Amino acid sequence: ALPEKVKIVEVGPRDGLQNEKTIVPTETKIHLIDLLSDSGLPVIEATSFVSPKWVPQMADQVEVMKGICRKPGVSYAVLTPNLKGFQAAVKAGASEVAIFGAASELFSKKNINCSVDESLQRFDEVMKAAKEAGVPVRGYVSCVVGCPYEGKVAPEKVAHVAKRLYSMGCYEISLGDTIGVGTPGSMAQMLEAVSREVPVSALAVHCHDTYGQALANILVALQMGINVVDSSVAGLGGCPYAQGASGNVATEDVVYMLHGLGIQTGVDLSKLMNAGAFICRSLNRKTSSKVAQAPCKL
Ligand code: HMG
Ligand code: MG
Repeated sequence: ALPEKVKIVEVGPRDGLQNEKTIVPTETKIHLIDLLSDSGLPVIEATSFVSPKWVPQMADQVEVMKGICRKPGVSYAVLTPNLKGFQAAVKAGASEVAIFGAASELFSKKNINCSVDESLQRFDEVMKAAKEAGVPVRGYVSCVVGCPYEGKVAPEKVAHVAKRLYSMGCYEISLGDTIGVGTPGSMAQMLEAVSREVPVSALAVHCHDTYGQALANILVALQMGINVVDSSVAGLGGCPYAQGASGNVATEDVVYMLHGLGIQTGVDLSKLMNAGAFICRSLNRKTSSKVAQAPCKL
């Protein structure tokens, strides 16, 4: 049976914009987040507290956090790779943070400059500080079906890292198909392995749409009982350390599918589409959302 409600985690301002070549003005980021807040999304990943040398696009994280209008009930989450990032995030008023690991050694090294085991040690420090500060922590696992450097990734590896993050105290584990290579087949195998270690009620899926499989993969996840889905307005995004990978599945398309299935999201699709139109205008690019492109409106 499908869930009655799905929580959408909007990652556009972070995953979407981190990969843009030209620096997006801080004002534009703030306006985008405010429009997204207004559309009824419950969680908005606003920025990352990572090194500006690694991801220059996120260097204005403090200004972004200061500039946004915080809508009551909306959680403004940020990425924190280490204690330094966590401390800065809390100071800037992040209401939740995310630590981000990988199921692949080479991706871990390229993305956060350490091995998977080292990353888990760093995350443990973040987790201890977060528990003291009462800040909820989400955990990402990247490369859950494939890695740009190692190829296919075994479901057991994903299950292992997901379990470690969950036992550490992450309230939710987001499973990232970073390069969008999964299919409903490989996704289901991976989800089965992970759900033997972590309850499905604590799992989320984070699908990039490189091979056009994201909506199908999400549907499989819903059928397996997962009710948290990450997506990015206008399908913006990609990871700077996964070249050629396209953006996340578009939030507009996820919302359209979910509402079509009779699943509640709390999101107003037309307001969401306004946010998508705004950011595409600002970036001078075409939307990747099929729903936003569709000329025939129901
Ligand atoms: P490092 O170079 O090994 O770090 O980078 P370090 O501890 O040796 O420090 C080097 C310098 O960085 C020092 O500055 C530190 O102060 C500074 P310097 O002395 O040279 O002037 N530094 C920081 N500055 C700001 N904020 C911090 C911070 N930490 C150290 N938190 C590090 C290690 C993790 C910092 C680096 O590799 C990094 O920032 N990586 C982030 C990469 C990233 O953001 N990737 C994209 C997000 S992940 C993703 O997109 C996947 C996801 O969407 C899921 C999916 O799709 O699968 C989540
Ligand atoms: Mg991603």
